[in-house]
Amino acid sequence: MVGRKVGIVGAGFVGATAAYSLTMVGTCHEVVLYDIAPDVAKGKAIDIGQSTNYSPKGTIVTAAEDASGLKDCDIVVITAGVPRRSEMTRADLLMINAKIMKDVVGNIQKYSPNAIILCVSNPLDVMTYVVHKMTGWDRNRIVGMAGALDGARMSYQIHQKVGYGSGQTRAMVLGDHGQNMIPCPEISAVGGVPLEQVISKKDMEDIIARTKEGGSEIVKYLGTSAYYAPGRAVSVMVEAILDDSRIVMPSSVLLDGEYGYKDVTVGVPVVLGANGVEKIIELDLNEETKAKFKASVDSIQEGIDILNENNFFD
Ligand code: LAC
Repeated sequence: MVGRKVGIVGAGFVGATAAYSLTMVGTCHEVVLYDIAPDVAKGKAIDIGQSTNYSPKGTIVTAAEDASGLKDCDIVVITAGVPRRSEMTRADLLMINAKIMKDVVGNIQKYSPNAIILCVSNPLDVMTYVVHKMTGWDRNRIVGMAGALDGARMSYQIHQKVGYGSGQTRAMVLGDHGQNMIPCPEISAVGGVPLEQVISKKDMEDIIARTKEGGSEIVKYLGTSAYYAPGRAVSVMVEAILDDSRIVMPSSVLLDGEYGYKDVTVGVPVVLGANGVEKIIELDLNEETKAKFKASVDSIQEGIDILNENNFFD
């Protein structure tokens, strides 16, 4: 992979924080921010670009004047989309963001036809599905960011309970990035110690509930969505792909028979490397988790059905 250029579509809080995180770690050579509001992209690119004077690699940060600025990116991160406002139905939001996605994806296909796409826009799993349908690319090249964030949130909640193992906790969250996400304590560990051996059932239930509410808890305090943890979760995935480090990370990917489902995107553990999704890991789920996984897939399918009913893909 030459160049190591990362495009970020949407220079809002999540996009800009992802850019900042990438420059502070120093994995890529260049980050380009693109936004429908060019001044926002410009202002943030200048600010982040000036921060890199003290970063490990002096990463170059620019703003795209128009979509052609996304030329020859190795990875394009899509954070564009509108948040749900009170007067919107779920279907309204889906249609609005899916249309935004259609435009963005057209530009990526035109200017960075060999890129890997990292989708961050919400509703995450459905938007990742839209990117698949719009591009028709091999499924390994499109990945949705969810489990990296939800797992970090679960790890945080675990630390809040036990008071040790900060940075040593690996928590697995499967399913959709929404109400039906599935935090899996049985395959999570703190410093390699299975969680179930150090946390009571009651505390575990609390951790699961707080993980699921992780995004909305922050909205409650800030009046806007989270961005530091989402930004860092994006950059850790980008780094894994650029470095071909083959880390295991739950991510939203298109299933083709794995876990018993086809033609739907949902969060499962995958191996991230130079080709994007190098491998989908099929866990042997117990009956209870299988039922939760089905509910999660069904909720994503409902979103996809709304798009189909509105002839979005025609
Ligand atoms: C969240 C948004 C970024 O979960 O998806 O906070």
